Amino acid sequence: MAPITRKLLLPAFIFLVFVSIFAFGDTALREFSSNALGRTFEFFPYFLGIGAWLSAAFLCNRLVNIFVWETVFVRLTGAQAPRLLMQLSGATIFFVAALGIVGIVFNRSLTGILTASGAMGLVIGLALQTMIRDVFSGVALNIERPFQIGDYVSITERGLVHGSGRVEEGNWRSTRLLTVEGNIQTIPNSVLGTCVITNLSRPVPSSESEVLVVLDFSVESSRALRVFDAALKEAVLAGKLAAEPAPRSLISAIDETGVKYKLKYVFDPRRGPPGKTRHVVLEYVLHHLQKAGLTPAYPKRDTFTAPMPERALDYYRHAPQLLTRVSLFRGLTQAERDELASTMTLRHFGAGDLIIRHGDAGASMFILVEGVLEVMVPAKDSDTTVKVGRVRPGEFFGEMSLLTGLPRSATVIAAASAVVFEISKDNIKPLLDSRPEIAEMISTVAAERQVATANPPIEEAASQDRDVKTVAGRILEGIRRFFGLTLQAT
Ligand code: CMP
Repeated sequence: MAPITRKLLLPAFIFLVFVSIFAFGDTALREFSSNALGRTFEFFPYFLGIGAWLSAAFLCNRLVNIFVWETVFVRLTGAQAPRLLMQLSGATIFFVAALGIVGIVFNRSLTGILTASGAMGLVIGLALQTMIRDVFSGVALNIERPFQIGDYVSITERGLVHGSGRVEEGNWRSTRLLTVEGNIQTIPNSVLGTCVITNLSRPVPSSESEVLVVLDFSVESSRALRVFDAALKEAVLAGKLAAEPAPRSLISAIDETGVKYKLKYVFDPRRGPPGKTRHVVLEYVLHHLQKAGLTPAYPKRDTFTAPMPERALDYYRHAPQLLTRVSLFRGLTQAERDELASTMTLRHFGAGDLIIRHGDAGASMFILVEGVLEVMVPAKDSDTTVKVGRVRPGEFFGEMSLLTGLPRSATVIAAASAVVFEISKDNIKPLLDSRPEIAEMISTVAAERQVATANPPIEEAASQDRDVKTVAGRILEGIRRFFGLTLQAT
């Protein structure tokens, strides 16, 4: 037997029994009741009438459920009809049956009942305002469907979190969430009606999350970002974080505690609550920070009994300290820095000033302290120039001519007013003698620039060579020859 027929069999049977007795068996029953059972059983017609109405409502409710909710609704929306709607339609049908019983079986005027029920409804409505609001919000939620059972949601009102967790159940009055702490949180539907509901499981079952980590100003941002990226990468490699979209770190803000870094990653609520993923991310981050020798910042107030440390370094007095911020010279000893600083010349340039001209002879290199510079080379097929690079504070330039004796390979112009230290060949030579790694570092940067500009100043043949390592080796060799050093090419 088909399931629909099976579902309809009982209500249809009961309904038919009552209707046929009501229609045809009335006289027989009257006789039966007066003769066999006496006058006390005269209520039988009422019993039959009530039975007929209720069985009709029963059947009608089944028909509506089967043909409207389980068929048409599913076909139109592609989803199961909400239980709440089915219960509402059932209640309406039985209410109509109750009116039918009062009006027809008991032959009472409905106007009075409706008026009385209206007045009563008003009283009940006032008394149960909140509950009624909950029910109507529940209906709205069921129709709108901002979430489904099993979805992970966050409920907020004007930024205030009312609750978050996995939707376990939604009924007439409230919606139940399983919170991160493992508790059941019951939120009245009327509250949900006025809140912002963020469904973290849709349209994709994962959502982006972030944690903030604050580091001291003294930590270079590139270093911090490198450590954070490595921590996030390791969490991905360990299968603890989703690889796509890739987690990333960025600078979020600067305040009195330090620089705030935002670590963004995707968390999948199906794999656990957000707190669990946050824990994993922070665990990896703390490990990487600790091993890199970095400590998260904390609110602090410096109290110095010694003279206050300089907050703004002076170009002349603090030149050795400024050199510590240039990666090329970071490894120098205090004495070496003092020696180099004493021989440097401070120079100021205005925006647009020419600092180096392509093709000129050059016997010095520069360190950019403040400003930003643009590097250009003549275009191959025209009289114009093309921009090939930029020099940022803390970087050096003009190294190629200084170290190889060849003409300047590019034109360098101040894009904004700039402050630079100039270092001559004689001043750098002792350093190259005592610190082979400096020549290596310079030759690597020079090689990168040379490859970028595709304009090698050393040998024409090298213009074909795009491999930075090989070019760096050649430059190092050039430096060695030019300075008469005994350096080993890398
Ligand atoms: P030098 O050849 O002495 O003079 C011009 C300088 O421009 C050169 O040294 C490099 O320091 C610099 N330079 C050349 N190409 C680039 C580049 N692509 N990016 C940044 N700086 C560059």
